[in-house]
Amino acid sequence: MVGGENKKNIWIIANWKSNKTITEALQWLEIVGPYIPQKPKLKVGVCPSFLALAEVKKKILVNNYPLLLGAQDLSRFGSGPYTGEVAAEFLQEVADLVILGHFERRKNFAETDQIIAQKLEFALANKIKPLLCVQNENTPIPNGASLIAYEPIFAIGSSMADDPRKADLVASLLKKKYPGSLEVLYGGSVNRQNAKDFLEQENISGFLVGANSLNPQAFLEIIKGAEFFS
Ligand code: PGA
Repeated sequence: MVGGENKKNIWIIANWKSNKTITEALQWLEIVGPYIPQKPKLKVGVCPSFLALAEVKKKILVNNYPLLLGAQDLSRFGSGPYTGEVAAEFLQEVADLVILGHFERRKNFAETDQIIAQKLEFALANKIKPLLCVQNENTPIPNGASLIAYEPIFAIGSSMADDPRKADLVASLLKKKYPGSLEVLYGGSVNRQNAKDFLEQENISGFLVGANSLNPQAFLEIIKGAEFFS
């Protein structure tokens, strides 16, 4: 899947989780931003904490970095009396994407498939592209979700990535189950060494990268490796 016209979109999305101050976020951007290749099919993005979103957005715009900006969550309610929540209608001012259904939120914040579906509706209604994390081919995918990250639980933060052929199989099963235009990313201990083996799989369209996105050089190396496939 590397020949001319047939090249697929490749998404490389950094999930910083609960890491990086605003200052650290801006330092990372200064290192990574200037080296992101300008290619229409290569879609690089970063998902900082809520707190850093606005500053990161400003820097992306001022420097014209080819970088999408994502949130890691949004409220399952609209604006109003929901103390502590960040509603989609505010996020849409800054965020292109939002990660939903990450296993860490399912596990630590009791998010159910139903809650995730509510959040997804708010994302779509506010034109924020949801990046829905699924743990296997049986995780339900609500209508309107087209960008999926397959993240097997054992591979998250473990340094034990899944077998790329297994990831490809899950991606192909999902595409069969939800015919249309799903793009399926892989997430779980992605690094510069294993990235190529995943990108060679027909049904894998990039990555959600956790730990190896925090270090700018490590993330840039993953991007460099992906450029060829996009
Ligand atoms: P990891 O995290 O790359 O550190 O395994 C990926 C994720 O949880 O999205």
